[in-house]
Amino acid sequence: MAVISRTDGASRVRKPLRGGVALVTGGSRGIGRAIAYRLAMLGAAVSICGRDRAALEESARGLARIGRPVHTQIADVTKGADITDLIANTEAALGPITILVNNAGIGLFGPAHEKTEADWDRVLDTNLKSVFLLSRAVAPSMIRRGSGDIVNISSLAGKNAFAGGGIYCASKWGVVGLSGCLAEDLREHGIRVSVICPGSVATEFSGRGPKDSSKALSPEDVAHAVEAILTQGPRGFLSEIHLRPLRKP
Ligand SMILES: NC(=O)c1ccc[n+]([C@@H]2O[C@H](COP(=O)([O-])OP(=O)(O)OC[C@H]3O[C@@H](n4cnc5c(N)ncnc54)[C@H](OP(=O)(O)O)[C@@H]3O)[C@@H](O)[C@H]2O)c1
Repeated sequence: MAVISRTDGASRVRKPLRGGVALVTGGSRGIGRAIAYRLAMLGAAVSICGRDRAALEESARGLARIGRPVHTQIADVTKGADITDLIANTEAALGPITILVNNAGIGLFGPAHEKTEADWDRVLDTNLKSVFLLSRAVAPSMIRRGSGDIVNISSLAGKNAFAGGGIYCASKWGVVGLSGCLAEDLREHGIRVSVICPGSVATEFSGRGPKDSSKALSPEDVAHAVEAILTQGPRGFLSEIHLRPLRKP
């Protein structure tokens, strides 16, 4: 949790996350990459994961240019063993994780009654089970330290129903519910669990870009919301942010 006291020097104010270690899942492109870059610019050491090595390495090059310590790892967030390795290797390379951003996610659209059990498992495991697994993995050491931030990227699809959204909405609705309950479990330990629900963002998300990308949110808009959560005052708790494009795409 970033704390900026009145007596902090200007450099601390410019780098409020200095000393922090952030793990951003799905940091290999899109929203996760923008969040990873933003957190590094704010002073955090950053670990990113994904399954596509080339995309991950491109993100790593960008992070290296920012000049903060970086760890990258091929990891599938649906797999408990990958997550165990990811946490262990991140902490060995950078130190205890103080910020977890559960961003990795996939979309799958179309009527739920036409989808398979495997479709359901793939989306729910990636978008929801991973949030449980990763949060569970970092919580004990955050509890020991009495501080930490967990930021979960849900969606306005986690608040609103629409035709063809069945499985995706179920996963993102689940992320909102899980986030709220984790927040209640962990707030007495000084840990904030927040959820961001963005509307359409201009990325290559599951091959389905927004109808009008000039009006959609940018990945940096989501990174800005993450920054707002991580730089709020020590007694505040921005628990849920609905981030809409100003003009409807
Ligand atoms: N774009 C939108 O309009 C929008 C709106 C609201 C919310 N969101 C949410 O924002 C998050 C990021 O979306 P995006 O738009 O940036 O999509 P994206 O460009 O497709 O990026 C998705 C990221 O998640 C990673 N990922 C997917 N499955 C993974 C797995 N099993 N293990 C590890 N990493 C995995 C991908 O890396 P690999 O493919 O290399 O594994 C990639 O880095 C998602 O949770 C999405 O639901 C997006």
